Amino acid sequence: MIKPISISVKAKSHTNQYKMHKYFARRPYNVFQNLIKHYTKENDLVLDVFCGGGVTVFESVAMNRRSIGVDLNPLATFISKMQLKKVNISTLKVLGNSFINNLEQELSRYYEYNYNCIDYKIEWIEWTYEVSCPLCSTTIRLAEHNKVVSPNGKPKNGYYCCPNQLCGGHDRRTGVKRTDCKSIGSHPLRVKISNGEETVVIDLSDEEASFIKSQRYTHLIEESMVIPDDEIPLNWDRTHEDKLIEKGVYRFSDLYTERNFILNVIIFNRILALKGQIDNDIVDCIYFAFSSSLRYTNKMSRVTENWENGNPTSMDKHAYWLPNVYIEANVIEKFKDRFNVILKGLTYTNEKIPFGSNLISVKESINVCHIGSLNASILHLR
Ligand SMILES: C[S@@+](CC[C@H](N)C(=O)[O-])C[C@H]1O[C@@H](n2cnc3c(N)ncnc32)[C@H](O)[C@@H]1O
Ligand SMILES: [Zn+2]
Repeated sequence: MIKPISISVKAKSHTNQYKMHKYFARRPYNVFQNLIKHYTKENDLVLDVFCGGGVTVFESVAMNRRSIGVDLNPLATFISKMQLKKVNISTLKVLGNSFINNLEQELSRYYEYNYNCIDYKIEWIEWTYEVSCPLCSTTIRLAEHNKVVSPNGKPKNGYYCCPNQLCGGHDRRTGVKRTDCKSIGSHPLRVKISNGEETVVIDLSDEEASFIKSQRYTHLIEESMVIPDDEIPLNWDRTHEDKLIEKGVYRFSDLYTERNFILNVIIFNRILALKGQIDNDIVDCIYFAFSSSLRYTNKMSRVTENWENGNPTSMDKHAYWLPNVYIEANVIEKFKDRFNVILKGLTYTNEKIPFGSNLISVKESINVCHIGSLNASILHLR
């Protein structure tokens, strides 16, 4: 019998390979290292049947154990596999940067912004939802400054004042309830732009906001493109708890602005077109960067004064939590950022993993009886 662990281990923050892609509920690596070291010896087989973000699998292999990871969620096994990907970093850097340059040439024009006759690049646009007042049908913007004020002087979540002075919902102390209002669209409030020399955040005039709202992107879709259009299952606990139907979100695509959805579709299709053109492992890495960027380019991002020095925080809840004031981030910039994080993460993997020892197998749960051969398909993740 092995004695139980008698010391406590203080959790350390994630190392670079775990920063490549978000997975909720990833465990601290050093706690797992300690468990593996205590309960197993070199060449033992470590099985994690709920492998999630792949910490057990990675740490086992890094300590010369064999390891099997299984998970119901194909995103979990995709991430776990990618964290253990052996790849030539210089080749990845060259091919990834060339892919990014092509994307920039094709798509960066959709984030151009002219301010005081100078060309800038949009980093993000801040939008607020617009709803119709249930009492008088006037448009209400769900911006912070329109919130009802509680007796303690603080803004009251979920209640907004109608701008129509003749409406019963105009009262600053009562307003109207957000869930009683019909959603009608979104309105841009601010834009963050940069041109290499300066970065500014501008409050948009009505005229500038109308121009931004009038831009359409559906004509960029080509007939041959694969368009992910999955519906969010109605019977999911999160669909219910996050009030997605009430907020007009029926499909995953509804979590994006039109521009960001369509530009993401184009990037996705450009990655699919790489298959067969360049090494499959490199395609997987580029796809991994893209998948990792999606968290930052949907409507679950927001900017708050007190967080991240005014930079957006993105999908930070284990839920489809849609803030009433959200950020539309530049998808090309986010893809670039994530690609650089992937380069760092895989460099770490290369240093830590004794490749060649053939110890790794990460499979989807449904294929568990076939454990033994790697069968990664980049289309497992949708
Ligand atoms: C807390 S996470 C695991 C964390 C992981 N051990 C680590 O070290 O980071 C739990 C995982 O269990 C998976 N899961 C839940 N039910 C499952 C099932 N019946 N079969 C396989 N995996 C399952 C979930 O998809 C999730 O990824
Ligand atoms: Zn009203």
